[in-house]
Amino acid sequence: MIRFNLNSKPVEIDVDPNMPLLWVLRDILGMTGTKFGCGMAQCGACTVHLDGQPIRSCVMPLSAIADKDVNTIEGLSASAEHPVQQAWLEHNVPQCGYCQSGQIMSAVALLNEHPDPDDETIDSYMQGNICRCGTYPRIKAAIKTAAKNKQSAFDYSLGKEVGGQA
Ligand code: FES
Ligand code: FES
Repeated sequence: MIRFNLNSKPVEIDVDPNMPLLWVLRDILGMTGTKFGCGMAQCGACTVHLDGQPIRSCVMPLSAIADKDVNTIEGLSASAEHPVQQAWLEHNVPQCGYCQSGQIMSAVALLNEHPDPDDETIDSYMQGNICRCGTYPRIKAAIKTAAKNKQSAFDYSLGKEVGGQA
């Protein structure tokens, strides 16, 4: 039995501990917002947060997340009110949409580490998230909008103010 917190709720799973987290999320728990792209940590479609850090869930065995905190796109907000999701909507970022939950989870982690990122920081941080539709310019614009709207006093992973004036 492996226990972990998924989007702030405790979960217990009794499956092969070598099963990748992505399979657990999608096939066991029905959390299909996180996507399967390459299965080899090469595309970023499966990005979730583990203890606040972005990881590729397709190569993360369940055993490695025991007693840790996992956040997925479903945990960002109930109905896309998270400021990064709002910026995505404002810029009409998605085309086919397949890569976008991974893009958003990486962007949230980026903004947690760098509340006001420059172009170079965005390019470097987001380079592991591939978009076959080429939405990169809109992704960058949306990250800048999210950074502008809510800067240092905002915890992006929680989607709410954590102190001070935003
Ligand atoms: S599916 Fe995990 S990085 Fe591509
Ligand atoms: S929007 Fe189609 S792969 Fe990114």
